[in-house]
Formats: sequence, C-alpha cells, structure tokens
Amino acid sequence: MTSLARAENLAAEPLAHEHCAVSVETKSGVFGFDCAPGETLLYAGLRHGLTLPHECATGTCGTCRARVMTGEVDVAWEEAPGAARLKRDKGDILLCQTRALGDCVLRVPAEVAEKPARHQIPAYRTGLMENIRRLTSDVISFEVALSTPMEFDAGQFVVVEAPGLQGARAYSMVNFTRSAERIELVVKRKPSGGFGDWLFGPGAEGAEVKVFGPLGRATFHADENKNLLMIAGGSGIAGMMSILASAAESDHFRTRKGYVFFGVRTLADGFYLEEFARRVAEANGNLEVTLALSHEEPSREDHPDHPGVKLAGGMVHEVASRAMAGRYDDLMAYVAGPPPMVDGALRTLITQGGLSPSAIRYDKFG
Ligand SMILES: Cc1cc2nc3c(=O)[nH]c(=O)nc-3n(C[C@H](O)[C@H](O)[C@H](O)COP(=O)(O)OP(=O)(O)OC[C@H]3O[C@@H](n4cnc5c(N)ncnc54)[C@H](O)[C@@H]3O)c2cc1C
Ligand code: FES
Repeated sequence: MTSLARAENLAAEPLAHEHCAVSVETKSGVFGFDCAPGETLLYAGLRHGLTLPHECATGTCGTCRARVMTGEVDVAWEEAPGAARLKRDKGDILLCQTRALGDCVLRVPAEVAEKPARHQIPAYRTGLMENIRRLTSDVISFEVALSTPMEFDAGQFVVVEAPGLQGARAYSMVNFTRSAERIELVVKRKPSGGFGDWLFGPGAEGAEVKVFGPLGRATFHADENKNLLMIAGGSGIAGMMSILASAAESDHFRTRKGYVFFGVRTLADGFYLEEFARRVAEANGNLEVTLALSHEEPSREDHPDHPGVKLAGGMVHEVASRAMAGRYDDLMAYVAGPPPMVDGALRTLITQGGLSPSAIRYDKFG
C-alpha cells in the first residue's frame, strides 16, 4: 500500500516490527538505508553515514524537513515546535520525529553526502547515569558511563532518552577525551521540564539511558589554527568547556588567543569557575574569561574567589560586543545557549565583527 500517513489516523497505526527500506531523493542523488523498528528516520539515516539536514535532532528547529512521496509513516510528536511551518497536507514531516511503518520513499530538499566530511558517524549506546552533582541551585552536572567508547569532536552533543520520558533531549559534552568511555554533561533546569525534573529527582543516579551521537557541527579543530571567541548563555557553556579542554591538549593558546564570554544572571549562578581560573593561568596571558551578569552589576572587575575570571554587567552578547571591538582578526566564533541570546550574538558577530558565516559555529538550545 502506498499512501501518505495523515495525522488523524496515526494513533491507530501499529509500529513496524521489521526493518523498513527507506529511499531518499536529494539534490545530490538517491540514497537508501534501513530503518529499525521504532527508530526515527533521521537517526536511521545518520547512523548509515548520510549527512541528512538537521540541527537540534529533537523536534525544535525544523531543519530536518522532508516530504513523504510513498509509504506510511508515524509522527511521534505532533506538537513539535519545528513542525509549525510544515505543509502537512503535502506529506511534509520532520525526519527527527517520524518513524517508518513500512518501506517508503522520501524527498529531502538538500545536498546530502554519504559520509560526514570530518565527524564520526553517530551510533546508539546505552549508558549509566553516575556522579550527579549540583553546581548551582538550578544546574546539575552528571556523567554517563557508556556501553561502548565514543569518539567525538569538542563542541559536539548527544541525544539522551531517559526512562519514562517521551522523546530525546540534546546535551553537549563538557569533557573531551579520545575514545571516551564516559561523557560529562551539564543541565540547567527549565521550569516544568521533563528531563530536568527527572534529573533533579531521586531516580536518576544509576539509571540506564539511551544515547545517540555524536552529533553537531559547532566543533573545534586545532589544525584550523584560529583565535577562538566563545559566547555562551547558561548551560551553553558545556560545549565550550570541551573546546577549552581540546585546545589545552593541543597547546593551542601557546600561539593563539582565546576569549570566553559566559552569561549568567547573578554571581551566584556562575559555575566551572575553578576550571576557568586554571585554564587562564595555564594559557600564559592568551586566554581571557569574562562572566557576564545580566541581573546584577558587579562591584569589582574580577571574581572575588577566582581572580583569573573577569566580571562585567549586561547581556552576554553586549558584554562580548564591547570587549571585542577591534579584536575579530583571524578567529573562529562559537555561540551556544537560549535562542534569543544566540540570535543577539550572531547579529553582533556579523554586523560588528564582520565575520562570514563560515567563521561562526553555533547551537541553539531551544
Ligand atoms: C544542540 C543542543 C544542545 C543542547 N545542549 C544542552 C546542554 O548542554 N545543557 C542544557 O541544559 N540544555 C541543552 N540543550 C537543551 C536541552 O536539549 C533541553 O531542551 C532542555 O534541557 C530542557 O529539557 P526538559 O526535558 O527539561 O524540558 P521539556 O520542555 O520537557 O523538553 C524540552 C525538549 O525536549 C524535547 N521534547 C519534549 N517533549 C517531547 C515529546 N513529547 N516528544 C519528543 N521530544 C520532546 C524537545 O526537544 C523539547 O524542546 C541543548 C539543546 C540543543 C538543541
Ligand atoms: S533536526 Fe529535526 S527539528 Fe531540528
């Protein structure tokens, strides 16, 4: 049977129990892959090495838009924010929120390659939640002990499925190590957020989670040999910590500059400050870290307990804009955090810094 799935009859559809053959028509040719029962089309294509378009991999950005040409599919999350502008009557879907119910043909309006140019091909792993640590009143870090080691680039993220929670959540790696047996993640709690509530509750330590990754292109590569500018809001600092660890490993700040702007509300909301102070001390004057306080005017220029860390008042992209004037030469910029903060930073980098899109890498956490 070849028909497009319609939202109203999906609830009654059984999920496929066997692998389905998926064919994707793209601007760069036709590719095929198989999709396991219950697996989303995006994850199935990515784990076969196809560079299907995506950003968040969790239903919010809308980048993974595709059209079902033939075959039946099941939309896992109808209300996904990324689906708001889809032409559903024409068969448009989000690849990251849709599963195949049988063999199908899709059309993806993008160039697709058969292997990512630089990054590892993502895969599924299971993991055990360990060392859950509260860093501030609403920020928790934890480690996931992986079932098999994972190679990833600094700045990448994984998606995590927690027991009893609908859908996956994206979290950026904080640590950086080759063939990682454990990954460190950090979560800023969102009011009434499903994952945050679970993580801050009693059942998370020792729980088994499902992990898919690595994903993401906001990555650091020492051989690009650039000065580094990092602008992060809240838990957006996660991937920057991984980039700093990777840069330290390659002794990047011996010859290159680094500027980190970390936005939080008040002094009490800052975290990873000891690590920052240590990184600054190790970088021979080539690394500057500024904690930008949006809801408090700092009474001094550096942190009272961590003197290597500078303090400034204002929104983080405005603080970065003031401090970076005239210093945008030969750099790669990284931005991560809540979407309005990321948009503000991107405007600054393009209009004030004159940076081209190829010199900016970002993740929107929403
Ligand atoms: C690339 C990227 C990296 C990120 N890295 C971090 C990080 O390092 N630290 C951090 O704190 N946050 C990070 N985030 C944000 C994070 O993924 C979560 O959105 C945030 O933690 C809130 O999750 P929650 O479950 O508490 O809130 P909720 O409001 O319950 O869920 C938020 C997100 O979960 C998914 N979701 C919710 N309900 C469903 C459903 N029924 N079916 C399918 N999916 C659903 C959606 O993506 C939704 O936006 C990142 C986001 C992205 C896109
Ligand atoms: S990648 Fe599917 S909505 Fe973002």
